[in-house]
Amino acid sequence: MSKKKSPRNKTIDTPVSEGKKYISRCIKVENPVEDIHAVLDRTILGDSFSVIPNLPKESVDLIIADPPYNLTKTFGGTKFSKRKESDYEEYTRQWLSAVEPLLNPNGSIYVCCDWETSLIIGRVLGDYFTVRNRITWQREKGRGAKANWKNGLEDIWFATKSEHYTFNLDDVKIRKKVIAPYRVNGKPKDWAETDSGNYRDTCPSNFWSDITIPFWSMPENTAHPTQKSEKLIAKIILASSNPGDIVFDPFLGSGTTSVVAKKLDRHFLGIEIEEQYCLWAEQRLEMADTDKEIQGYTGGVFWERNSLSEQNAAVTSEAAIKPVNKKAQKAKQQTQQIYLI
Ligand SMILES: C[S@@+](CC[C@H](N)C(=O)[O-])C[C@H]1O[C@@H](n2cnc3c(N)ncnc32)[C@H](O)[C@@H]1O
Repeated sequence: MSKKKSPRNKTIDTPVSEGKKYISRCIKVENPVEDIHAVLDRTILGDSFSVIPNLPKESVDLIIADPPYNLTKTFGGTKFSKRKESDYEEYTRQWLSAVEPLLNPNGSIYVCCDWETSLIIGRVLGDYFTVRNRITWQREKGRGAKANWKNGLEDIWFATKSEHYTFNLDDVKIRKKVIAPYRVNGKPKDWAETDSGNYRDTCPSNFWSDITIPFWSMPENTAHPTQKSEKLIAKIILASSNPGDIVFDPFLGSGTTSVVAKKLDRHFLGIEIEEQYCLWAEQRLEMADTDKEIQGYTGGVFWERNSLSEQNAAVTSEAAIKPVNKKAQKAKQQTQQIYLI
């Protein structure tokens, strides 16, 4: 039985013994797959190192990889042990060289890591892809250290296979409060006056300070030890893929990449070695059939932390903010149709 929790604790922690129906939805891939559509929108239970060579080349548009960092950590029944830098580099080369052929020529890859692992990923990624950026995510929560600075950030490396790649800037704007409202001829310059305050939709930088890690009161939270936020993955998927594209995650964990891809009308495919995590991924995918909300992404824009009341006000107000340009307006209208429930 699941442990007794407070009613506000939404953490998904269904044990394997109670989640057989979810596990039965997962697939195993032991032979070459000719057409990616045969395994699309599925969770593959297995070891990425043996599954990936069976997947068709140039079949996915976006890869989001959140591998075990070079730390000692237990994932379900498997312990990943911190290793020598050269060994972690070899491990990274193994999986990067395996996923590289899967990516379409116009595709992108994002790789998550902590600061220490980042030194290795940043060095190795460029041997397989063109590195475009290093995003730093201010994670906020982190374990205190007695003789060091608390670790409050993670890096996310962004790379592409060629010079031609998708980047939907207007789809990942951040709505920020205007501190110094500038006017021209008495009218707001690139910002909007609303009942709940003055806002501007700004271009996102490579420093992400608007995302928390999932916590117990959030419906997306599971008992996975290193789960990423849906909001973080939504930024990547919206920027670097289009509806109908295929998003692949070789280290799926609790299923965040697949769940967000589904909510944003992309196809998905993920591989996870632990049965328990596959179960939670499938449970979340089922929840996404009826709930497409992504916390912190409302009305087609990303919002700063602790802005729930403003988000609610924007959802209920028709003219919440004037879009900055026509393309942004169109994108916003499309997403609003889907997310303004
Ligand atoms: C950092 S976690 C990913 C967390 C995920 N982003 C989420 O939001 O839940 C890494 C995951 O990779 C899985 N993993 C490790 N080695 C693997 C392998 N060879 N094949 C498939 N999955 C693996 C681990 O079990 C773990 O769940």
